[in-house]
Amino acid sequence: MATELSTKHVLGIKYLNAEDIQLIFETADNFKEVINRPIKKVPSLRDVTIANLFFENSTRTRISFELAEKRLSADVVNFSASSSSVKKGETLLDTVNNILSMKVDMVVMRHPAPGAHFFLSQHIDANIINAGDGTHEHPTQALLDAYSMREKLGDLRGKNIAIFGDILHSRVALSNIFCLQKLGANVRVCGPPTLIPKYIEKLGVSVSYNVKETLRWCNVANVLRIQLERQDIKYIPSIREYAQYFGITKSMLDDLDKEIVIMHPGPINRGVEITSEVADSEHSVILDQVENGVAVRMAVLFLLASKR
Ligand code: CP
Repeated sequence: MATELSTKHVLGIKYLNAEDIQLIFETADNFKEVINRPIKKVPSLRDVTIANLFFENSTRTRISFELAEKRLSADVVNFSASSSSVKKGETLLDTVNNILSMKVDMVVMRHPAPGAHFFLSQHIDANIINAGDGTHEHPTQALLDAYSMREKLGDLRGKNIAIFGDILHSRVALSNIFCLQKLGANVRVCGPPTLIPKYIEKLGVSVSYNVKETLRWCNVANVLRIQLERQDIKYIPSIREYAQYFGITKSMLDDLDKEIVIMHPGPINRGVEITSEVADSEHSVILDQVENGVAVRMAVLFLLASKR
């Protein structure tokens, strides 16, 4: 069993191995116990300064990282591109180097450009954690998703996991595919043909356009939203038709007559990819995912800081 991560950064699940992922999960188990105590704070990252750089909107990831950092006793600075000198034309590298010159040790960044974190890692010394890079990867989301699946199903080897929705524009989908495959699960994507990347089978996933059949196949349905903000052309006739043909409803789950775990990374478009009845049903672990996100991010921060 590994005792430290094989990487200095968490740029994507692609760069982690199965041992790294298991180590993160086992470390997160300890932190989950910590955050359920009356006193939720440990001194592990005292004297470590972390900058949260968000060049794109976020609710869950941003708050989750900040809570994780504070529960580890790190010093935290938050940066939002919309209220910064990025608006005056400052480059990403200048922005980050200026922040780092104030003695920052770690950077958590969300950026709309795929590969922005990889680029930064070639130029700066601080540890970098990818909190989402455009349509590319969202590694800590995939880690918390797999951690939540492991809580419900145990070992994921041989389990059937389906990812529904807008696979084409989803960083969560790609990170989930990499993570689940490294853990030995079978992965299927399901959605309209226009929202499934050509040649995705080359990643070793199966493809279905049939929601009911895929629900029968899977142990877990991880449902993604339609990312209208990333769509420059019309990939579906209308949201109403998408909901009618690809939305997951309670009657579909009732017809299954089996256990199924429903997940969603948020934000949910209720009544589009999933009805409120499903999102709030006994099958749903959507809020458990959010809770687990803090423990998983504490684990990632702690393990990276241990390598400094
Ligand atoms: N799941 C997720 O990344 O949500 P936010 O965009 O709110 O951070």
